[in-house]
Amino acid sequence: MHTPDGHTRTCGLIGNPVAHTQSPLIQNHLAYVTGQNLVYLPFPVAYGDLEAAVRGALAMDFLGLNVTVPYKSDVIAYLAEIDPLAERIGAVNTLVRCPGGYKGYNTDMPGLYRAMRQEGVEIADRDVVILGAGGVARAVAVMLLDQGAAGIHILNRTADKARAVAEEINGMAGRPFARAYALEDYGQIPGENWLVIQATSVGMHPHVEQAPIEDPAFYRRVETGYDLIFNPETTRFMELTREYGGRACNGVRMLVYQGIIAFELWTGAAVSQEVADELYRMTTQALAQQPSKGADQ
Ligand code: ATR
Repeated sequence: MHTPDGHTRTCGLIGNPVAHTQSPLIQNHLAYVTGQNLVYLPFPVAYGDLEAAVRGALAMDFLGLNVTVPYKSDVIAYLAEIDPLAERIGAVNTLVRCPGGYKGYNTDMPGLYRAMRQEGVEIADRDVVILGAGGVARAVAVMLLDQGAAGIHILNRTADKARAVAEEINGMAGRPFARAYALEDYGQIPGENWLVIQATSVGMHPHVEQAPIEDPAFYRRVETGYDLIFNPETTRFMELTREYGGRACNGVRMLVYQGIIAFELWTGAAVSQEVADELYRMTTQALAQQPSKGADQ
């Protein structure tokens, strides 16, 4: 690793809380293996201090920042520029230095897409089921539209929120692409061999015994159950998916790839598949050693 010197560039994570983040591990390892003179640190930012934090980073010429809960939408107000994808998603998790300030990007959804490709999960021309209708589920819906899914079925505890997301996505698509359902109405979804993306917070540590749906009739129709949660490593949703013959994935690869894409934006360096796989193993191991924690990024 480079010993920090007068040329060292600084990047970091702003959020609240940030204490359990895996991003310093991911980013400092990337800096090491690619030989970049860069350090990455966590910065807890108190409520009300977001603007000051972004201005401070600029004043100190930070190369970039990651942004996590609860600031991914609020930070948009303090950007000099925003990438069109991040604007459509309405959430920014990466800031890159640009003339006059920072440009905001969303690397979570490109990260999920790369993770799914890496794991051989096909999206194109496929009907996809999304569990949840919060900020993450909405972002997943935009990604699926962009990546050529045939259609999406959004299931949510609060059916009105599923309807609102479906309407918005259909507006973007300019055609009927998304349908909304109450969580218990999965019987109305056509077809078999579903790809299901689990985008609710149900089953996240410490509520590890919970799954958004328990019914075997649902899981019998799941071919791939993709949970965006990465702590615990195996959620109840993933267990149920496997129990009824499906393939299950967790959110660790997405976590790793959102970091890799941010690093590529900051440095212009290309990260190899070998390094990505190594980071996947390292992050899985680090999360296992810290079982009681759960934080975005
Ligand atoms: P995020 O930004 O992570 O998406 P969010 O916007 O708060 O967070 O969304 C959380 C999602 O998890 C929502 O879809 C929420 O369902 P509601 O819209 O009905 O609140 C879902 N969720 C949270 N707790 C749940 C529970 N106990 N059962 C079912 N769904 C739940």
